[in-house]
Amino acid sequence: MSSADPQGLQAFPEALSEPDAWLEPFDWYREMRDDSPVRYDASRGSWDVFRHADVKRVISDDEAFSVNPRTASDFEGLSGEGEGLILDTMLFQDPPRHDDLRAVVDDAFSPRTVAEMEPRLRDLMSELLDDALAANDGEMDLVEEISYPFPVIVIAELLGVPAEDRAQFKEWSDSLVAAASDEEIAERQQQSQQEMAMYFLDQLQQRREEPRDDLLTTIATAELDDGSKLPQEEALGMCMLLLIAGNITTTNLITNAVRCFGNQGVLSELAGDENAVGPAIEEALRYRAPVQAMTRIARSDVTLGDATIEEGDRVVAWLGSANRDERAFDNADEFVVDRAPTGHLGFGHGTHYCLGAPLARLEARVALSELLSLDGLTLADADLSPTRSSFIYGVESLPIRYDGR
Ligand code: HEM
Repeated sequence: MSSADPQGLQAFPEALSEPDAWLEPFDWYREMRDDSPVRYDASRGSWDVFRHADVKRVISDDEAFSVNPRTASDFEGLSGEGEGLILDTMLFQDPPRHDDLRAVVDDAFSPRTVAEMEPRLRDLMSELLDDALAANDGEMDLVEEISYPFPVIVIAELLGVPAEDRAQFKEWSDSLVAAASDEEIAERQQQSQQEMAMYFLDQLQQRREEPRDDLLTTIATAELDDGSKLPQEEALGMCMLLLIAGNITTTNLITNAVRCFGNQGVLSELAGDENAVGPAIEEALRYRAPVQAMTRIARSDVTLGDATIEEGDRVVAWLGSANRDERAFDNADEFVVDRAPTGHLGFGHGTHYCLGAPLARLEARVALSELLSLDGLTLADADLSPTRSSFIYGVESLPIRYDGR
């Protein structure tokens, strides 16, 4: 199990196990919403929940459901080292521990703090696009050139990773998200995770000795509400979480948005209208959500629809299906560029609502408005392959064409 997939969701439902099915899972979701909205899948030993109202309840009812995989009755531990590192982060902790951990970084990701980063993000994006244009001639892979590197650079800068370490940092984070498809890759992945952990431990130590104005310092010197220091392991876990949670997701938001706009033929319409870009990204988040599924564990026996979910059972809440539920959105299967949807679950809901949502939205808006400044931007014909993950949704590459800037 890789750290990109600590939820153990990699056992795909049979219906989505072929790449083409995972590229467009939405017809299957509709069938499930209509015929088996809450179902138990014996082959994966887990429940699946598909309707908007049920998904929202599962991800936000902290009394009934836990985010902590260790509470599952069939939990066997994660393979490899670092289990505690990731499972002790806010993403996998219930209140009150969750709230203590989240409070450490809440301010750094608040809409107001994030808004101040816009000019810097615009500079970074503009540089990246210049480099991409210089290296390519009329066609480029959007993922490789823009959507993938941009969030890595932004989080490295926010954490305060020194510029000279950025290339190394990118290599490590590449390996964190890579699918461990064979033993050799899995081993290399373990090794780079360890290197990265050592690196962060060293950086955190430096910040304790010499505080700076960066997020690493905030994390290194954090005191929790009860007056205790944030233990070193958890400080390290937090650094890793910010990388894992924020990179491949934002990559896919940017890519999925361009895919939606291109398929809908609205790229040139949006180019002239910066104010329309934000709402259009929101619709992309609904329509092709970068995170399609999240897992919870029942804390006691829970009734959902006609089903009784037993204490310790695992429940997969299909955010991507909730977002297409015609019970919650009119013409849910249509991409409506100016719909400005409210109530989509692309960033989750409740206690664990995405910490990075304001940052991800800003990154996507900056990236998209720069990209839309390209003349003659269109999608190139290509066979798409889905991101190799069982809950992150997007494509491995997306070729685009343009005439110039
Ligand atoms: C488009 C990009 C993103 C998407 C679609 C996304 C999606 C999500 C979702 C669905 C959750 C809820 C998890 C749950 O309920 O179990 C979540 C939580 C989280 N996200 Fe994001 N995320 C994105 C970007 C980011 C970024 C940029 C960061 C930080 C740099 C980030 C950090 C986190 C953290 C720390 C949590 C856990 C929050 C908590 O447990 O309180 N995310 N994200």
